[in-house]
Amino acid sequence: MSETVNKKPVKICETVLRDAHQSLIATRMTTEQMLPIIDKMDKVGYHAVECWGGATFDACLRFLKEDPWDRLRKLKDGFKNTKLQMLFRGQNILGYRPYADDVVEYFVQKSVANGIDIIRIFDCLNDLRNLQTAVKAANKEKAHAQVALSYTIGDAYTLEYWEKMARNIEEMGADSICIKDMAGLLTPYEAEKLVKALKSGSKLPVELHTHYTSGVASMTLLKAVEAGCDIIDTAMSPLALGTSQPATEVMAKTFEGTPYDPGFDQTLLSEIADYFRPLREQWIESGLLSTKVLGVNIKTLLYQVPGGMLSNLVSQLKEMHAEDKYQQVLEEVPRVRKDFGECPLVTPSSQIVGTQAVLNVVLGERYKSLTKESKDLLLGKYGATVKPFNPEVQKLAIEQTGEQPITTRFADSLAPELDKLREECKQWIQQDEDVLSYALFPQVATDFFKYRKAQQDKIDPAVAKNGAYPV
Ligand code: CO
Repeated sequence: MSETVNKKPVKICETVLRDAHQSLIATRMTTEQMLPIIDKMDKVGYHAVECWGGATFDACLRFLKEDPWDRLRKLKDGFKNTKLQMLFRGQNILGYRPYADDVVEYFVQKSVANGIDIIRIFDCLNDLRNLQTAVKAANKEKAHAQVALSYTIGDAYTLEYWEKMARNIEEMGADSICIKDMAGLLTPYEAEKLVKALKSGSKLPVELHTHYTSGVASMTLLKAVEAGCDIIDTAMSPLALGTSQPATEVMAKTFEGTPYDPGFDQTLLSEIADYFRPLREQWIESGLLSTKVLGVNIKTLLYQVPGGMLSNLVSQLKEMHAEDKYQQVLEEVPRVRKDFGECPLVTPSSQIVGTQAVLNVVLGERYKSLTKESKDLLLGKYGATVKPFNPEVQKLAIEQTGEQPITTRFADSLAPELDKLREECKQWIQQDEDVLSYALFPQVATDFFKYRKAQQDKIDPAVAKNGAYPV
């Protein structure tokens, strides 16, 4: 590995309009709350503003009764000098099931047409076959295709593994690589080694995306930048730290006067922070922002379980009146993960492993009941895992379904579905993009379309909000 690092200003991607509020306040920032500050944000000199995709699409339609496409167009209007970035779940797009290639391609096309410049694409198993359609589509639309590696720890995840992944990512036509450390597992000195491994595997720019959950994130960014990391993700301080990202102002200040200095104007940054601070107070008051997500959660390092997954486990156990089993479940998670090919824990694999671990403990017998998602995973429908499945457990899935495991790319077995989807929702379509909202969340999108129509027809939105528009 080369030891020479070219020292240059670090580029910064601002996450306050996407991941920061997704991580801290359940993705509830509205477009109206974003727009007044865009002018100032556009002057900072960010490499990009991450502002779309991830859970924002679902949250817009489901909770905020906003059209996500309309939000994107408004953001594009405001950000005249700054690139807009989105997060894209590979073949699952922004939803929770794999889609046929025609839907993936059309979604990429419309995202770019409405204003997205950089598409960050990831897969929960790091199976690059699940990213190839989206990467190719981004190439075709002349957008920047970034492949994000879901970071995790385990026997299979050696520096050689990451280096080889970087090589493969470059070969598949991506424009940059992101380390996506959704759980905050990446420690500073490991980050240094990891960045060097990725740099030695490819010539692509490397970006680091981490979360403050375990308390090490700003140190991790520092060591990564010193090791040659080109871009880091940060969030404006009122929505930083905790389960969110390190603070933008703090990281910019850290590099001041060094070759890594991004050259940001701290006065301008403080004006932007002044805008978000009263909103933060408002969210704390309403209970949307809980102090629980703001502290250091050292359990994530201990069990290598993302913070969001921990809280899901608690609520699942609560529903089953089995809260006393929490510790046992925490210990079962790594065992299930091992049986399931040592996969990273990120949507949706985190939910699959978590739910199975809960069942294994609560039912008092491991794999007494396999969820549908567990069976699909064990049959290869989510893709290939880095290590083989436990053959005993996989055998259960084969016996219970009568299906044979697949080793091909699952989406190859899916027929084009765009026309069928369009037919299903045709009565509501007001713009080309509506079919994509429907494809991702059929019920939620239909409810939103009813709400939208009710508003246009000046029917009481309170009535229509519940999907009760009389059609
Ligand atoms: Co994130």
